[in-house]
Amino acid sequence: MKALVLSGGTGTRLRPFSYSMPKQLIPVANKPVLEHVLRNIAELGVTEIGVIVGDWLTEIDRVVGDGSRFGVRITYIQQDKPRGLAHCVALARPFLGDDDFVMYLGDNMLPEGIGAVAEDFRAARPAAQVVVHKVPDPRAFGVAETAADGTVLRLVEKPAHPRSDLALIGVYFFTPAVHEAVAAIAPSARGELEITDAIQWLVEHGAPVRASEYTGYWKDTGRTEDVLECNRKLLGDLAPRVAGEVDEASELIGQVVVEAGARVVRSRIEGPVVIGADTVVEDSDVGPYTSLGRGCLLRATRLSDSIVMDGASISGIPGLHGSLIGRSAVVGPSEHVASHHRLVVGDHTRVEVAA
Ligand code: G1P
Repeated sequence: MKALVLSGGTGTRLRPFSYSMPKQLIPVANKPVLEHVLRNIAELGVTEIGVIVGDWLTEIDRVVGDGSRFGVRITYIQQDKPRGLAHCVALARPFLGDDDFVMYLGDNMLPEGIGAVAEDFRAARPAAQVVVHKVPDPRAFGVAETAADGTVLRLVEKPAHPRSDLALIGVYFFTPAVHEAVAAIAPSARGELEITDAIQWLVEHGAPVRASEYTGYWKDTGRTEDVLECNRKLLGDLAPRVAGEVDEASELIGQVVVEAGARVVRSRIEGPVVIGADTVVEDSDVGPYTSLGRGCLLRATRLSDSIVMDGASISGIPGLHGSLIGRSAVVGPSEHVASHHRLVVGDHTRVEVAA
């Protein structure tokens, strides 16, 4: 079996971050979302992974490389613009050949893994095995109607009046039967070749299509709120480890990871917290639920429930919460004036201040 990971798209809901990085590289518990995805696939024993990329090929290649770090071999496949999930399958046909494959949306997090679904697929080898999850409002998703034995009766992409609460959550297993379906469908109202329509085509042509319910934690990391929530969830499963330096005057409480080269000085860290390599935390109060990337500087600051990306520096801020701070951002008091705030913020940035 091979894998196809979709890592294109524009990520408009993740602005301003998506101006300077693909949404799949946003760090959750200090690892890019895409890395979590690739590790989940490697756990299945799959070693050949095709990764569909858009404009961010160079950035993704720099972080993920040839995949050897995860014990897999990555082939990058470039798509000129987002044309739909089924278009990705067609584009990847030379890579996929006639192998079975798992298709995985590169911004979807399923931390409990997909091993059970893979077993379902391998046992029965239906033309398609979709993963569904009960959601309160399925209108933003592909929606599956299923029989009691898991047979899929009907799939509809983003229905206005959903007939079930089972949403498709971005992981699909296929036999090569899907290629005929992909070739047969026409673009949807949003102008994309929908994988949901291709699978519905299989249903209509009598091919076996099955659903596995995933009951674990799932998140489509499409918005900053989702990224922070997912960070909270993953940090909660963290095993404590101190490879860096923590001085006598500091206190670590609960699940705290201090990576090599990091320094914690006169600070109180309340886990779950991860402090990335070469980051310095001084006279600060950090956590719970906070990830600090590599090479950050935190001084005289109180910070909780947040993600700080590589190289950012924050000083003299007494209460930061629920924040997402981008790479090499600088947050702190003005060097020149004490009487007012000075902001240099990029497009679509959000600054919320306490009244
Ligand atoms: C895509 C699929 C949809 C699925 C969703 C899961 O939607 O088309 O069926 O439920 O991913 O995240 P999109 O993110 O393209 O709107």
